Amino acid sequence: MSEQREPVGVIGVGWVGLVTAACFAELGHPVVARDILAEKVAALSRGEVTIHEPGLEEMLRRNAERIAFTTDMSELLAGARLLFVCVDTPPTYSGDADLSRVRAVVEELPEGSDHVLIMKSTVPAGTGEAIRRDLPGLSYVSCPEFLKEGTAVEDFMHPDRVVIGADPGDEDAAAAVADLYEPLGEILHTDVSSAEMIKLASNAFLATKISFINEIANVCEEVGADVGEVARGMGLDERIGSSFLRAGIGYGGSCFPKDVTALKMLAGNTGYHFQLLTAVIEVNELQKRRVVGKLRAHLGSLLGKRIALLGLAFKPDTDDMREASSLVLAARLQGEGAEVVAFDPVASERAGELLEGVELTGSAMAALDGADAVVLVTEWREFAELDWADAANRMERALVVDGRNFLDPAALAAAGFEYEGIGRSASDRRISASSVARVQSTPRSLRP
Ligand code: UGA
Repeated sequence: MSEQREPVGVIGVGWVGLVTAACFAELGHPVVARDILAEKVAALSRGEVTIHEPGLEEMLRRNAERIAFTTDMSELLAGARLLFVCVDTPPTYSGDADLSRVRAVVEELPEGSDHVLIMKSTVPAGTGEAIRRDLPGLSYVSCPEFLKEGTAVEDFMHPDRVVIGADPGDEDAAAAVADLYEPLGEILHTDVSSAEMIKLASNAFLATKISFINEIANVCEEVGADVGEVARGMGLDERIGSSFLRAGIGYGGSCFPKDVTALKMLAGNTGYHFQLLTAVIEVNELQKRRVVGKLRAHLGSLLGKRIALLGLAFKPDTDDMREASSLVLAARLQGEGAEVVAFDPVASERAGELLEGVELTGSAMAALDGADAVVLVTEWREFAELDWADAANRMERALVVDGRNFLDPAALAAAGFEYEGIGRSASDRRISASSVARVQSTPRSLRP
């Protein structure tokens, strides 16, 4: 049955490419996935998954017969007409997106080929137009990816929206791509430049929401308000929405930092100064460092202090360390003369290559042994379930800075901890909904 479905080609099997390959195979399409790294291709062909992404390994195993991994471009070109470009576009020194890998792919396409190039890599608006200018016969479709690491498979299979951008002349190509996505959800058809902008603007807006709530959290600390309550109250307004209003020690990952800067630079290259994004970036940089001030407020000088970091990846359910807040934090703590010890359930191996001088432990408890303070950096579920009373006994000083407002302050206080969150007021200042309900049910004349 799978042979009747349109074959799909994937170029670049990083996070997006591998998820795209697995999910189209799951939908019944034969898939040829090509990468230039022979080692990666060999590992994937043996069934070894190179990244940590929930559900992905099982999906690849289930569909192993439908997916061929190769380093050979001609095998890809022979195997599929629809080619998804999923190579990375890291920032260059200037902050613009590095399109060299995208260009290398385009250069490998034979002239006059009837293939459709479908751009999933995040590229500046105008890239599609430039590629079409260079290869006049080529069909080109922009199909930006909106999946999140940690829930990538779920996001691919149940997207909020699928955006397909095509310019006049490529209507058939757009229809072929729309057919692939038809079982998944609502499709928005646009021109290529608008599709490219939708991707950048979406990431920049989400990053803006995070920096905004982080600034609100910092003000909450000054005025004694609680950012969790503030975000909940704001989020109930459906024009604002409740998602991406979690205050913390800043956003990281392979997308937000790169894409916000790329959009700022894209605007700058046209002569427009995108002021708002400058602030978004600066707030995020400073937010990672606020933890150091919080530790100093409790411990004084950090010289010789042993500080434990729980979580290193840029978010839970991934081993991705790109632009992780832990990198800046660890370096700043070391700069203050602290001894840094850390644990992450899956990212330790990748982190080890990046965190020079940081002691990595095999368990969370081992990281806490003898520590003067612990900073929760990544909100892995297992950290909420830790035996915090035991942790308090093992530590030199039971002090926790919760960089993700993830732990229960009352439970931590009961376990003997001094607790500091980000923009969280002391729990004893809050009244609970149930105590308000109790008062409401008391006749007015009897209320205190
Ligand atoms: C992000 C977007 O959410 C995806 O839609 C997009 O497809 C992807 O980038 C991409 O361009 O490829 P991702 O980087 O996987 O996805 O991670 P997010 O879940 O968006 O989180 C990014 C960072 O923001 C994390 O460090 C997270 O801890 C932080 N964050 C997120 C907050 O600090 N507060 C929040 O309320 C939400």
